Amino acid sequence: MCGIVGYVGSKSAVDFLLEGLYRLEYRGYDSAGLAVQQDHQIAIRKKTGRVGQLADLCERQPVTGTFGIGHTRWATHGEPSDINSHPHVGGNGEVVLVHNGVIENYSILRNQLRELGYVFRTGTDTEVVAHLVAHHLFEEIKLGANPGEIKTCLRAVESALKRVKGTYGLAMLFRDVPGLLIAARLGSPLVVGIGRGEHYLSSDAGPLVGRTEEVVYLSDHEIAVITPHELQIIHRDAGTQTPSVRTLEQTTSDLDLGDFDHYMLKEIYEQPQTVENALRGRLDEDEASAKFGGLNMQPQELRRVDRIILTACGTSWHAALVGEYLIEEFARIPVEVEYASELRYRNPPLTDRTMIFAITQSGETADTLAALRECKRKGHPTLAICNVVGSTIAREADGGIYLHAGPEIGVASTKAFTSQVTVLTLLALFLGRMRNLSYPAGKRIIGHLRAMPEKLRQTLGCHAAVKDIAQKYYQAENFLYLGRLYNFPVALEGALKLKEISYIHAEGYPAAEMKHGPIALVDEDTPSVFVVPRSNIYPKVVSNMEEIKARRGPIIAIACEGDDKIADLADDVIYVPDVDEYLQPLVTAIPLQLLAYEIALLRGCNVDRPRNLAKSVTVE
Ligand code: G6P
Repeated sequence: MCGIVGYVGSKSAVDFLLEGLYRLEYRGYDSAGLAVQQDHQIAIRKKTGRVGQLADLCERQPVTGTFGIGHTRWATHGEPSDINSHPHVGGNGEVVLVHNGVIENYSILRNQLRELGYVFRTGTDTEVVAHLVAHHLFEEIKLGANPGEIKTCLRAVESALKRVKGTYGLAMLFRDVPGLLIAARLGSPLVVGIGRGEHYLSSDAGPLVGRTEEVVYLSDHEIAVITPHELQIIHRDAGTQTPSVRTLEQTTSDLDLGDFDHYMLKEIYEQPQTVENALRGRLDEDEASAKFGGLNMQPQELRRVDRIILTACGTSWHAALVGEYLIEEFARIPVEVEYASELRYRNPPLTDRTMIFAITQSGETADTLAALRECKRKGHPTLAICNVVGSTIAREADGGIYLHAGPEIGVASTKAFTSQVTVLTLLALFLGRMRNLSYPAGKRIIGHLRAMPEKLRQTLGCHAAVKDIAQKYYQAENFLYLGRLYNFPVALEGALKLKEISYIHAEGYPAAEMKHGPIALVDEDTPSVFVVPRSNIYPKVVSNMEEIKARRGPIIAIACEGDDKIADLADDVIYVPDVDEYLQPLVTAIPLQLLAYEIALLRGCNVDRPRNLAKSVTVE
């Protein structure tokens, strides 16, 4: 939700700002803007639409300078428009800033500032912060402070932030102090990149890749005072902090599209490799178990756990549902899957033996972070299954497991899902082997897991068949996705993918449950996608298919290779390799990702940047 970049150094700021904004565009693409400072002038360019449109504007109306900030917006307060685009100006241009987050008390603050004579030009909550900082700057000056000094600006920011309620990642320039960039964080991520005689700022590490390998992640309530040669970090309560410098491990090739037309397709095709990455070094043949480097919990503590809460949002929540089935089957520990947005405000009775796992690709989802913090505050061990190294959730959890899937840039999550399911399978195996899963059973699971990257490679062979099927159905306005047991979450995920990128209404349901409502939607124009690989309840799912057929609903079946019978009932079949039931989500998810992709293309949709969505939802 909104991306921020900043630069202070000796190179052209606009080059980094635009390049960085392209890389952050997945966080929001309602509008984009930047501000560049030269001496005591700050020039602003901003525009509704994508970063490309901002780049065109900057070509027509060039800006020069070596200090700057930029923003790509996912609108919260105020419609997407040129005027509501960031940066926003405070006072008479003394402060220019960009913001990611939500200012909850903006209305009260705006009224107070209006009474003091400040004029508001936009419908955003952010403009309030700009005027508030300017106001405190004037107050400092009235008391005799020098407007050209860093400490004056810092004091103004500190005073302003004390009055703000809500969340923010902020980056600001000061007209009278060229080369000063002040950043502040509460709830919305920010990372500082350290260069030689230059500093970068960004919402995530992506824009810094290829520019620097040394980064400092800001924590909540920290303010960074950044100049080309200095970085000072001040915590609201703890005062000046020694920056903890970390090394970035990404490379620019992780961010390239390669031969693919879209990131989504590239990421779908990466899955054999990303699943392999999730398994690497974690299969313990001697113990017939899994091993993890970062759980930070002793076996005795883990053995005491008698209940697990998996909490997540979106696709990660679907992976958590698969995790519930896996952990309960292998480890016999009761598991509940909670939407993070609910868990954060609920007060479920948890005991001191309850362990919490947050599952998140980005590690920044506001609700997941809040749920994790709430459980942590209550004293529960909180762990994370996370993709982005150094993200807020990865840093705040007591321990966890990284996916090692590489950057996921397509807004609709694909490879993160299969990596999460892989890690959850490993976790179930690990917890199971601490309890009643036998050595031979553990060995068997390891053998099956080892085979998965190759099975996924084979699965991708279904792409041509999926393309033909997409051609047949892409004009449908409603879809049902149905599956049972391990394939029920896959049905939910398939429906979500289609909705997200093609804007077709789709519902995922447990196959048998469709009799309790969704079957009313079935007619000859409403395709049902049945996820029906071989399983103990295969005949039951086939009966559900019959029920749809009897109502003349078209059926697309995702079935195991060799299942010729299914073609008698289904109008179209996509075959996937036959794997054990608990591993089926890994192979059955892929054709559904491809189906959504192909249908979205045929409908002329932007698959990597679907409307209204953002990759990293850092607001509530
Ligand atoms: C957004 C994204 C989804 C993602 C969800 C949770 O809605 O568009 O693709 O599944 O957030 O994100 P997380 O990073 O926590 O997994």
